[in-house]
Amino acid sequence: MILDGKQIAGEIQQEIKQALSSGHTRMPCLAVVLVGENPPSVIYVNRKTKACAEVGIKSIKKELPANIAEKALIEEIEQLNNDPAVDGILVQLPLPHHLNPMNVIQHINAEKDVDGQHPENLGKLFMGDTDTFAPCTPLGIKVMLERSNIDVSGQHVLVIGRSNLVGKPMAALLMQTGPGANATVTVAHSRTKNLKEIAMTADVIIAAIGQPKFVTADMVKPGAVIVDVGINKIDDSTKGTGYQIVGDVDFDAVKDKCSYITPVPGGVGPMTIAMLLSNTYKSFLRRQAIKSQT
Ligand code: GUN
Repeated sequence: MILDGKQIAGEIQQEIKQALSSGHTRMPCLAVVLVGENPPSVIYVNRKTKACAEVGIKSIKKELPANIAEKALIEEIEQLNNDPAVDGILVQLPLPHHLNPMNVIQHINAEKDVDGQHPENLGKLFMGDTDTFAPCTPLGIKVMLERSNIDVSGQHVLVIGRSNLVGKPMAALLMQTGPGANATVTVAHSRTKNLKEIAMTADVIIAAIGQPKFVTADMVKPGAVIVDVGINKIDDSTKGTGYQIVGDVDFDAVKDKCSYITPVPGGVGPMTIAMLLSNTYKSFLRRQAIKSQT
């Protein structure tokens, strides 16, 4: 069965739109910082700002030159930190190579870090604090599984990939106590030995390794749940565009062996955006509450 991330994300966007439709004196505001013109990043940023407009969140797109100095980028972030009208700040990754993402991201005010990448928020996540901003893709996967009534408690979940954006926080979220968690988590990566044997014991596989069709049918236990985070562009002369977008899972081969699978596109991607809106709304509510107390 298809896990329809697009539909679930649409429901969440409707809920946020509804909640914002009355009783607020201003709109929430998200600032998205894009350095350079990396084509996928340009597309993702445009999707994010478009989704903001659809639910009633204002967005500011800060487009900065690829050769910007780290100091100048940090100054831009500090301006957004100090702007009382800005509730959320996201620096689109990857950054050009001369910029150190860790140096840059730690300058975002953790209370506006709706992307969940600040060390304070990642630290809280690892310590089991649920009242933090969790990174949007792993949070979206957790929410999608919960809303699809797929209970991971006690299940063996294999996360393939160890990035700061997906693999590591995904593992942290799933091993928490509480609803939608309590999983037994294995994190595999490019150096993992016997991956096929490990994968065959997994009840849920979350593929976030960035390699087209990496998860093949012989790696999947019958009835497993498959979540595909990959977005890979591969040459395909049969398409008018000359390419096609595929995930990290060999969808056609795996779909009849598993119980649930997310499509690419239309699975995890829309959930990432829905969680960005949700985190921005959460930041807005928190900041309004603090303002009304002072
Ligand atoms: N690049 C790809 N996905 C993401 C994301 O969720 N957040 C940021 N900041 N950059 C990304």
